[in-house]
Amino acid sequence: MSVDALFEPLTIGTLEVPNRIVMAPLTRARADENHVPTSLQAEYYAQRADAGLIISEATAVDPLGMGWYRAPGIWSDAMVRGWKGVSDAVHDKGGRIYAQLWHMGRLVLPDYIGGKLPIGPSPIAGEGETFAPRPVDDTSHFLPMKPYVVPREMTQADIDQVIEAYRTGARNAKAAGFDGAEIHGANGYIIDQFLQSKTNQRTDGYGGSVENRVRFLKEIIEVVVAEIDPSRVGLRVSPTSERKGMGDDNPAALTEAIGKLAHQYGLAYIHLIEPIASGFMEKPDYPVMDHLRAVFKGTIIQNGSFDAKTAADYIASGKAEAISFGRPYIANPDLVTRFRDGKPLAQANFDYAYVGEATGYTDYPTYKDDRG
Ligand SMILES: Cc1cc2nc3c(=O)[nH]c(=O)nc-3n(C[C@H](O)[C@H](O)[C@H](O)COP(=O)(O)O)c2cc1C
Repeated sequence: MSVDALFEPLTIGTLEVPNRIVMAPLTRARADENHVPTSLQAEYYAQRADAGLIISEATAVDPLGMGWYRAPGIWSDAMVRGWKGVSDAVHDKGGRIYAQLWHMGRLVLPDYIGGKLPIGPSPIAGEGETFAPRPVDDTSHFLPMKPYVVPREMTQADIDQVIEAYRTGARNAKAAGFDGAEIHGANGYIIDQFLQSKTNQRTDGYGGSVENRVRFLKEIIEVVVAEIDPSRVGLRVSPTSERKGMGDDNPAALTEAIGKLAHQYGLAYIHLIEPIASGFMEKPDYPVMDHLRAVFKGTIIQNGSFDAKTAADYIASGKAEAISFGRPYIANPDLVTRFRDGKPLAQANFDYAYVGEATGYTDYPTYKDDRG
């Protein structure tokens, strides 16, 4: 089967992209220890600049929402300068890059925030464990792991503070030269914690009905589109994902509410994580894509376990306008060329997915280099 559908140009909101291959956000933890983006990151993203669109790795809008060793933030001037180096490098290579705006909510370990409890919609801990900061003088390759803790239930003041952090994050993304922003509403982070019924047990106006559970997202969309035109704002969601203790009693209804909201505000795209095969994430028993399609008229970027052929097939059949690729982008800086030329993909070394420097990050060769 032809992969031509991947190479049809597309307009996402007001952004023209030359192909339908999107680089999915990938946390790689190569910022400095103060969460400032580095020139190594600029090199990495520039290597992948021929993607139709790059979505940056998750980028925290607020120190309280940052619980990942050496992940980047976007709340300080130094971070904006660091990101400007990244966006310039991508633009110099003719590419386009959006910032993924992130707050981890209940999934932040106290170790990252001076021993304080993280915040979340309800006092329910995430399931499992996560990377703790590297202890001083620790020279081992991998980071220590610690279990998630029970968060402090957010007050209205906490909610207002996080929303304001998104406003600043959006403003800073613009200042840093990003072409747009993606609101991270997926993967069990703070927005998802409000959206899904299992993690949102609130009895105020932010909990209970689906309309109430999308309110936090609605207020975040409002401040983000006040800073960046909605035609340059996207939203990533994973309403069927149950990782890290997530769950919703009616993902289809939740998806429709999210889609209607995004439509109401004229967002450029929804980036739906709905894997077509289980692997890094589970293939859902009851997919929600059709529910999204029914209410959202903008671009849909789908993600999860695609290869060139399945992606082209999805696009050709009108199921999604573009497909994003996560794991394939780790070891294939030239993914677009490999897809176009039908070349095999290199396999990533996951030992370096979340830790390290250039090794396993910027040193993956292109196909031509491989062959000398
Ligand atoms: C190393 C790694 C880091 C990731 N970091 C992020 C992230 O920062 N933000 C996000 O929304 N998803 C993140 N994801 C999820 C990917 O964007 C994507 O949804 C997932 O890899 C499934 O797509 P794939 O089958 O094409 O790999 C990450 C995945 C991996 C493997």
